[in-house]
Amino acid sequence: MSDPYSDLAAQDTALQERIADAIDARCQDSAQMEIRSGYLSDFNLAQDAFAVELGSGTGYITQELVTLAGASSALGIEPSPIMVERANETFAADHRLRFDVGDAKETGLADDSVDLVVAHTLLCHVPGPEDVISEVYRILKPGGVFAICDGDYDTATAQIADFDPLDQLVRFMINQNVTNLWIMRQIGGLLTRSGFELGRRRGHGYVAEGDATYFLTVIDRGADRMAETGVLQATTAEALKAEAHARVSQNRFFGYMSYVSQIARKPAG
Ligand SMILES: C[S@@+](CC[C@H](N)C(=O)[O-])C[C@H]1O[C@@H](n2cnc3c(N)ncnc32)[C@H](O)[C@@H]1O
Repeated sequence: MSDPYSDLAAQDTALQERIADAIDARCQDSAQMEIRSGYLSDFNLAQDAFAVELGSGTGYITQELVTLAGASSALGIEPSPIMVERANETFAADHRLRFDVGDAKETGLADDSVDLVVAHTLLCHVPGPEDVISEVYRILKPGGVFAICDGDYDTATAQIADFDPLDQLVRFMINQNVTNLWIMRQIGGLLTRSGFELGRRRGHGYVAEGDATYFLTVIDRGADRMAETGVLQATTAEALKAEAHARVSQNRFFGYMSYVSQIARKPAG
């Protein structure tokens, strides 16, 4: 299966809703919020700054471009009308935000018109990320900031002992749902080839806490996908999901992945 996030609008409604629920769970996970506040808070934007999130999903991070990054207004661009509708419902009361259906490779925004662009877990899903990067270069004002954060997917694990079968569910889920596992190890070269100046690069460790709501969506989707593709019998997939949920309730669950953020700037001119 090719990565469904790379063409989300073409997936059936049930899958898009399941992915929207997983995105919502991840956005509201406090350890994930710490990652975002770690890299979105120190841009020193102009007072009337306009920010854009590419691949805005259900909209939480677009709002943080105002609440954390200090923009006065923000636009989320997202190809899936189901995601855009959910974002518009959740954030209807916040008039600083707008969400539009669109493509990160062709935003329709004017040259040199945006102060800050953020791509949070977008580029790992896009075949041809260099096309997104050159579009960002075009729309940013001289001196404008491009902030990227994505998983370093090879580090994802739920393993608590040798040959732990739950780890295979995490690896399968990522294998089936990510286009480029190595994007954050390649991002420096991609950005400088497009003319960007590199700023701070940081690693952010994510450890699932408490009821591990988001990480369990990874396990459950991995198990279901293994059953759908005939790797596992449905009963085996259910048993592995039950093992993960039991580990959470018995405080034996461990889920981890590194994220990397990279700040870049369009030269001031
Ligand atoms: C993992 S989700 C991240 C959503 C949001 N940024 C967040 O972190 O909560 C990736 C999003 O990128 C969107 N996406 C994929 N390809 C895209 C493209 N070419 N242009 C804009 N968005 C795209 C997907 O539809 C999906 O909503």
